[in-house]
Amino acid sequence: MTTVSTPALVAAACAAGLVGAFPTSNCRSTTELADWLDEIEATVAANLIVHRSNTRLDEDLDTLVRRGVRLVITSVGTPVPVIGPLHRAGVRVFADVASLKHAEKAAAAGADGLVLLAAGAGGHTGWANPFAFARAVRRFHDGPLVLAGGISDGTALWSAITLGYDLGYMGTRFIATAESGATDAWRRAVVDATLDDITLGTAPNGVTVSLLPGAAGSAGHTAAGVHAITTAAEVIDTTRREWNDARARTRRLLAATA
Ligand SMILES: Cc1cc2nc3c(=O)[nH]c(=O)nc-3n(C[C@H](O)[C@H](O)[C@H](O)COP(=O)(O)O)c2cc1C
Repeated sequence: MTTVSTPALVAAACAAGLVGAFPTSNCRSTTELADWLDEIEATVAANLIVHRSNTRLDEDLDTLVRRGVRLVITSVGTPVPVIGPLHRAGVRVFADVASLKHAEKAAAAGADGLVLLAAGAGGHTGWANPFAFARAVRRFHDGPLVLAGGISDGTALWSAITLGYDLGYMGTRFIATAESGATDAWRRAVVDATLDDITLGTAPNGVTVSLLPGAAGSAGHTAAGVHAITTAAEVIDTTRREWNDARARTRRLLAATA
C-alpha cells in the first residue's frame, strides 16, 4: 500500500506466514528498493505500478528480478508489457483487475493469477460485487484468484475461500498497526470510521479510490472492522483465530445437514 507498507510491516507479515507485499514506488529510488529487499530478508511479493506515470518501471523490474523476487503484482494499468520479461526470469505475475474486461485481457496475456478489486476495497477500488465477480471470472480462469476488498477478519477470509478465491488481500486492516507508515491521524481515522463514512474519490492518475472523511487518507469498507491500533502480529493472530472458528462453524453446519 502506498505510504503504508514499510519494510517493518512487510517483514512482520512474512514472519507470520503471510505473503507480505509492497509497491516499489514506496521506495524513493531503485537503490532503496534493493535495500528494502535486503532488509526484509523474506520471500515477498512486490507490486509494480504499470501506469505510464511510473518512470522507474524498467529499473525496478530489473532490480526485482536480480534480487530473486518470485511474485510480482501489477496494478493501475495493463500487465501485458511486463509479463514476458518476468516469465522469462521465472517470476510469477498476478494482475490487479477492476472489471471483467480487464480480467479477460490479463488472463489472455498469460497472467498467472488475477486479483479482483471488488467494491469497497481500500486504495484503488473496483465496483463489482465480489460474489458475482468471482463466479464470472471462474468461467475462464482456473488459476490463482485473489479477492481484494471486504476482508477485515478471518471469517470474511474463510468465506472468500469457500466462494472460489484462493487467497485474500488485507490492506486497510494493516493501516492502524504500529509498523505501518500511516500518520497517527490516519490510523485514528481508520479506527473511528464506520462503513458509511467511506466515500469514493478520484486519484490524480484518474483511478477511483476509497476515502476516509476529512482527507485523512484512503481506507476501504473494512475500516468498519478495525477497532484499535495494534501490532501486525496481533492482527494476524486474531485473524487466524477467527479463521479457525469460521472453519469449525462450517464443519458443524455440514455435520448437522449430512
Ligand atoms: C492506503 C492504501 C494504499 C494502497 N496502495 C496501493 C498501491 O500502491 N498499489 C496497489 O496495487 N494497491 C494498493 N492498495 C490496494 C490494496 O493492494 C488492496 O487492493 C486493498 O487494500 C484491499 O482492500 P482492503 O483495504 O479493504 O483490505 C492500497 C490500499 C490502501 C488502503
